[in-house]
Amino acid sequence: IPVDPFDCVVFGGSGDLAERKLLPALYHRQIEGQFLEPTRIIGASRSPLSDEEYRTFARDALREHLKPGEYNESEVEKFCERLFYIPVDAKSDLGWDKLKAHLDDGRDCVRVFYLAVAPSIFGPISEKIRQHGLITEQTRIVVEKPIGRDLASALELNDTIGRVFQEEQIFRIDHYLGKETVQNLMALRFANALYEPLWNAQHIDHVQITVAESVGLEGRAGYYDTAGALRDMVQNHILQLLCLVAMEVPSSLSAEAVRDEKLKVLRALKPITEANVEHLTVRGQYRAGASAGGPVKGYLDELEGGVSNTETFVAIKAEIGNWRWAGVPFYIRTGKRLATRVSEIVITFKPIPHNIFDQAAGRISANQLIIRLQPDEGVKQSLMIKDPGPGGMRMRCVSLDMSFAEAFAVRNPDAYERLLMDTIRSNQTLFMRRDEVEAAWQWVDPILKGWEATGQAVQGYTAGTWGPSQAIALIERDGRTWHEG
Ligand code: BG6
Repeated sequence: IPVDPFDCVVFGGSGDLAERKLLPALYHRQIEGQFLEPTRIIGASRSPLSDEEYRTFARDALREHLKPGEYNESEVEKFCERLFYIPVDAKSDLGWDKLKAHLDDGRDCVRVFYLAVAPSIFGPISEKIRQHGLITEQTRIVVEKPIGRDLASALELNDTIGRVFQEEQIFRIDHYLGKETVQNLMALRFANALYEPLWNAQHIDHVQITVAESVGLEGRAGYYDTAGALRDMVQNHILQLLCLVAMEVPSSLSAEAVRDEKLKVLRALKPITEANVEHLTVRGQYRAGASAGGPVKGYLDELEGGVSNTETFVAIKAEIGNWRWAGVPFYIRTGKRLATRVSEIVITFKPIPHNIFDQAAGRISANQLIIRLQPDEGVKQSLMIKDPGPGGMRMRCVSLDMSFAEAFAVRNPDAYERLLMDTIRSNQTLFMRRDEVEAAWQWVDPILKGWEATGQAVQGYTAGTWGPSQAIALIERDGRTWHEG
């Protein structure tokens, strides 16, 4: 369904995010017929580019980042016609009058300001937008992580943006929420009668959330070394996944109903502090090894200084203190340069209470539901069945396996496509509310402080493996193992 014409101003319009994600996502939405005329995309940043130079930048970006066959000459030209560029400086008055003149052309349409810039200039840009009278009734602002590096800085950043914009106008992106399979988690849980009655401590033994990456720093050492895996992945993406798995059934899909339930999960997470942090968390850092078929450097060799205590891997045993989840561990892990790229959620149900089969039937494995977020998106349910044939009762574990690529012959849209359109339609369901971000930091902060207080060291792991052996021990001491997909 097309949306009414809108203006989207991308600050950092000639940057990495615009090039890799935003321009390709907008292009795809145009192809899907969602844009009516005159929809405009305006790049804004300090680089002194002309409209024509920006269009060239966009063509190059699309050529580089679209999949084979997706670059269509005439669609790209049509796309370029809606592109403009205005050099603007967040810290001076340069360009703001021009931007205002461009936007205030007498039309009253949705106006999106996308801040694809460092958080340190969220404040100055918001202020300029206000000072120059660019905020209309239909204005929204989109911000990307990192929203702070601890609770105090997140509060400050939220205050800064909140001084200029109303909460309903602020769209905090967590791109994991825009992934198809992540939204499918809600469909799986709430559009099927099958799982919800079992979705609790009585029937679920434990939950695993793995977000493994095979890539290393990808040229982002400057940012990454000040963040580390806990801030970069757990505070946002992984806690959001955990919320979607663990939340109560919201009364509707409205933004407030869903976000209220997620918030309750975050607030129910049991604190990990100096007292138990060494028992419940593992920090790792990759050493030289092999990845994607070739040798790769260790983390320290990728840094300029060569010294760092930043974790590129983290594993945590988390627990949610409420009736539904009492005593059910949520094991989470994420890291760079791991054995493969895979993100999945594994729900392991409790074993059967009493086994009527004799020894010869073999072991009866607990049922598992595996939700595979990427790559090869799909859902898998393991079941025990009888091995076919007259040889007596022998049990075998098989899986009902649903691969999205096989089941639906359609392109899997990128998370940004969905999230950009939700911004334009003003649907906040898949965006983080201020109190969620802060509650997530409230849980993460004591872990960071605990690491500092105890001096918990990073454990080396060879690139291309599943992380330090301590992470395996973290789950195995409970008599469980990580699912290896
Ligand atoms: C980003 C992190 O938010 O997510 C990166 O900053 C990480 O370090 C990326 O690589 C992973 O996203 P995806 O969509 O590739 O799983």
